Amino acid sequence: MALDDPIAHPDLHAALARRYGGDEPSGPLLWNDVIGHLLSHRSIRAYRKDALPDGTVETLVAAAQSAASSSNLQLWSVVAVADADKRAQLAQLAGGQQHIAHAPLILLWIADLARAHHIAARSDAPAEGFGYLESFLVASIDAALAAQNAVVAAESLGLGTVYIGALRNRPEDVAALIDLPPNAGVVFGLVVGWPDPDRPASIKPRLPQAAVLHHEGYALEPQQAAIDSYDATSRIFQHGQGLPTVGWIAQLLQRGASAASLNGRQRLSAALKALGFGLR
Ligand SMILES: Cc1cc2nc3c(=O)[nH]c(=O)nc-3n(C[C@H](O)[C@H](O)[C@H](O)COP(=O)(O)O)c2cc1C
Repeated sequence: MALDDPIAHPDLHAALARRYGGDEPSGPLLWNDVIGHLLSHRSIRAYRKDALPDGTVETLVAAAQSAASSSNLQLWSVVAVADADKRAQLAQLAGGQQHIAHAPLILLWIADLARAHHIAARSDAPAEGFGYLESFLVASIDAALAAQNAVVAAESLGLGTVYIGALRNRPEDVAALIDLPPNAGVVFGLVVGWPDPDRPASIKPRLPQAAVLHHEGYALEPQQAAIDSYDATSRIFQHGQGLPTVGWIAQLLQRGASAASLNGRQRLSAALKALGFGLR
């Protein structure tokens, strides 16, 4: 796809203003329709009940499978759950997140070393390498890249999505619900459905690039002004959404303050070992 005129494109300025809430990057940026779609991402938590078109799951999975995969090992799988009872159970396991029950579909993204162990066993081959943390990380990265491709594909079709990391609150229960074998675990879910036009979601501003983009080497101190500016931007956004205006820093600090804020995920290492992962 051709790049449009970088500076003159009117959509670029509007998209950057929404994405950064006033702290846009200073240099000229490039623009085309794909970049426009990416910049307008937002998580959707209010869905219409309507069914998805035939072929939606297969289309999203084809997009997912088109992501890069470490050494092409493809150490991930996805379980599509449309059954209403199962979605209701998943909603409960994820701390009562009702969008899981309301949307027609949730895709469960699996770090999948089960297939690799199965192939090794069938070949009577050693599988020691799959018992290391590196293999779990490779599988999780593969799953995340695949899922994000599915998100981009879904949004390009007008569908909405939201990731569900809270399924890691109860990894063993989630695994049992979808019959996972040992050496397979849900890294996160992804709700998919038609956004409810009566309850639209807004684009949530991100940190200024001055905080996340470094040239030739990393520097922490110069980020301070950008972090403070983002905290103020977040308060404005929260106010506009009718949310408590706590800012972003307080949310970050709250997550780090104690194990309790991890909602069960503080025992993830033990849970993954119980699911068969070596993590050595
Ligand atoms: C791995 C991951 C897990 C997430 N888990 C949840 C979740 O359990 N529930 C939820 O409502 N949103 C979840 N989110 C969505 C984030 O809250 C959201 O992406 C973030 O607030 C930024 O908002 P935006 O996606 O609308 O830009 C998750 C996002 C990611 C990437």
